[in-house]
Amino acid sequence: MYKIAKLPGDGIGPEIVEQAEKVLNAIAKKFNHQFEFTFGLIGACAIDAVGNPYPAETHELCMKSDAVLFGAIGDPRFDNDPKAKIRPEQGLLAMRKALGLFANIRPVTTFKSLIDKSPLKRELIEGADFVVIRELTGGIYFGEPRGRSENGLTAFDTLIYTKEEITRVTKLAIQYAMKRRKKLTAVDKANVLASSRLWRETVQELAIENPEVTIDFMYVDSAAMKLIQNPKFFDVVVTENMFGDILTDEASVITGSLGLLPSASIGLHTSVFEPIHGSYPQAAGKNIANPLGTILSAALLLDYALNLPKEAALVQEAVEKSLDEGFVTEDITHENAKTTSQVGDWIVNYILSA
Ligand code: IPM
Ligand code: MN
Repeated sequence: MYKIAKLPGDGIGPEIVEQAEKVLNAIAKKFNHQFEFTFGLIGACAIDAVGNPYPAETHELCMKSDAVLFGAIGDPRFDNDPKAKIRPEQGLLAMRKALGLFANIRPVTTFKSLIDKSPLKRELIEGADFVVIRELTGGIYFGEPRGRSENGLTAFDTLIYTKEEITRVTKLAIQYAMKRRKKLTAVDKANVLASSRLWRETVQELAIENPEVTIDFMYVDSAAMKLIQNPKFFDVVVTENMFGDILTDEASVITGSLGLLPSASIGLHTSVFEPIHGSYPQAAGKNIANPLGTILSAALLLDYALNLPKEAALVQEAVEKSLDEGFVTEDITHENAKTTSQVGDWIVNYILSA
């Protein structure tokens, strides 16, 4: 029996996580597994319910689970109030820190039937297939000190990295590269930032220890350009927290839909699986959001956390088939768009009758 913590969060989170849960239950039925889902609060809904965006009960639940399935957090009530003391995003950041989720893996693949949805030219993106490994518990997201000067007219954040943090995530990236095309691009801003120079120095040392992997370096501004100009250049990318945040939103454009990109956050205690898109509050409760990013995250969960690659491959195949059939939500098609739950049902049926 596998224990899965289910944290739908805010906005469209509950609707899309429900589809992924259905899909995992179909996998359980098909392959004779048992998945036990337990609900936990996180984000704005947790602030409303208990005044804390990452309550202790949620943390305990995650700690004793084999994997965490996560939806999204965020609420416009807080976005429009920069003075809010407690914010939903703090829940996500607290969870990342508390679970030691040091590496966020964001695969970027193109789907044949969606190539023409991308704003980029077909010949640029056909066959693009890379993975961004984003450091997730360090850097400017967590560095201290941070805050405001006494008169409030100056604000500061701290971008800080230890060699150990860089080593840990880079080793993981090298392992990934070994399983793929043995090519790793380390993205930094070493021409300006001291922390980036430590990154580059550390990655260079690891490169010497791992000669089978070709490692190159790129400044983040130039990487941002190259992602659009020649995405097929990349295989595995490793980078610090904020650069990874920005580059992966950019990379999602390549696939033609932000709603399709899954992610896995690998942790010291457990791992968290979530789509890279946000809580899309305008669509909440309307049954129109694209559930595929979350369903693909469930596939990563099967593969990475539960070590069930056959099951993961079937989910992946079902998603591809639904795209080929044009059985998709309105972010992908304007004609005959399906609802969130219809897409979930389609994937479930595909799995059960495979
Ligand atoms: C992401 C999100 C988060 C981040 C926000 C919601 C704090 O954009 O997971 O990419 O910046 O890490
Ligand atoms: Mn982001």
